[in-house]
Amino acid sequence: FVGVKLGILGLGTVGTGTVQLLLDRTERHPLLQEIEILRVGVKSVEKPRDVQLPSGTLSSDLTSIVTDPKIDIVVELIGGLEPARSLILQAIDCGKHVVTANKAVISRFGDEILNAANKAGVYVMLEAAVGGGIPVVQPLKQSLSVNRIQAVTGIVNGTTNYILTKMQTQGSSFDDVLSDAQRLGYAEADPTADVDGWDAADKISILAAIAFGGRIKRDEVYCEGIRQVSQTDITYAEKLGFTIKLLAIAKREESSPLAVKVHPTLVPIDHPLASVSGVYNAVLVEGEPLGQVMFSGPGAGAGATSSAVSSDILNLVARIKSSPFNEKANGKNAKPQITCLDP
Ligand code: NDP
Ligand code: HSE
Repeated sequence: FVGVKLGILGLGTVGTGTVQLLLDRTERHPLLQEIEILRVGVKSVEKPRDVQLPSGTLSSDLTSIVTDPKIDIVVELIGGLEPARSLILQAIDCGKHVVTANKAVISRFGDEILNAANKAGVYVMLEAAVGGGIPVVQPLKQSLSVNRIQAVTGIVNGTTNYILTKMQTQGSSFDDVLSDAQRLGYAEADPTADVDGWDAADKISILAAIAFGGRIKRDEVYCEGIRQVSQTDITYAEKLGFTIKLLAIAKREESSPLAVKVHPTLVPIDHPLASVSGVYNAVLVEGEPLGQVMFSGPGAGAGATSSAVSSDILNLVARIKSSPFNEKANGKNAKPQITCLDP
């Protein structure tokens, strides 16, 4: 028994789903026994919650959680830029591993966080930041690493794909479907990020940085959302053999610089991305010598996202357990963990 102690920041859609999954003691995964949720940070301690935690677990003092010497892994699920960025950096500075689902922070401050983690010798895991429950960050970084990537094209926002699908299949109004997506926990705290394409731009910046290497300036990503897409556009597109999707594209054309952009796109109905519907996301990777590979699955919501967050946590627990330098595993003096940041 290693007894890895977690400090979880945020108990909203993803935080609640993650805590529920981690507390599942139905032989889901042997390493779940090794985890203890020591503290959970929220805005309002008084708010009613859907999970039962021992009294004293909740706190609104998030700094005291990330600096708590007993905590091994900080799981950042509050979203937004600040205080999320500062809390992640503080956690790293205190030698803690970090798991985050925060694409806004990683797309803008990934470099700063990567450098800090490398210096501190800790891991940062972020599978949930792109594609919800779809494994795409690790596969792109590891399993496809030998390829020369030519393009990454994705439907990477569940809320907008859900809205466009319902407008197309049920003739629903934009506002009604957006309310649905919020109720189902797909949308961001401020759904403008979904509707105006910013969330997709965050995600394609992260994927492009992994696939093509180097730094993608998030502010330079061309970004157009779905507000202007009307029922009439959808109907005419369909008549002409197309469907309208919000695509996030990172593409390197011969001899031109890498283009990274997000915009509504007419997709031919026989294209692999055309049939990705509802809250599903998909990422189509084109590389040499690979050819095409597509990852698809549920892209948002408590279940999908907590699957990715919890698996990142378990991967960290496994690494902590097997590290020859880990005092928790073998009682020796602590030495820095082997450095690795994802991506
Ligand atoms: P929610 O808005 O549902 O939950 C946010 C949680 O963080 C709440 O518990 C809130 O506390 C807490 N919180 C927010 N700000 C602060 C603060 N300043 N201090 C203390 N606590 C704070 O968000 P989600 O769970 O939907 O999203 C969390 C993260 O996961 C975001 O980065 C999001 O982009 C990402 N994500 C979300 C997905 C989804 O499907 N929802 C999918 C993939 C990634 P309180 O409860 O007291 O209000
Ligand atoms: N709001 C995001 C979406 C959550 O709808 O895709 C998943 O990152």
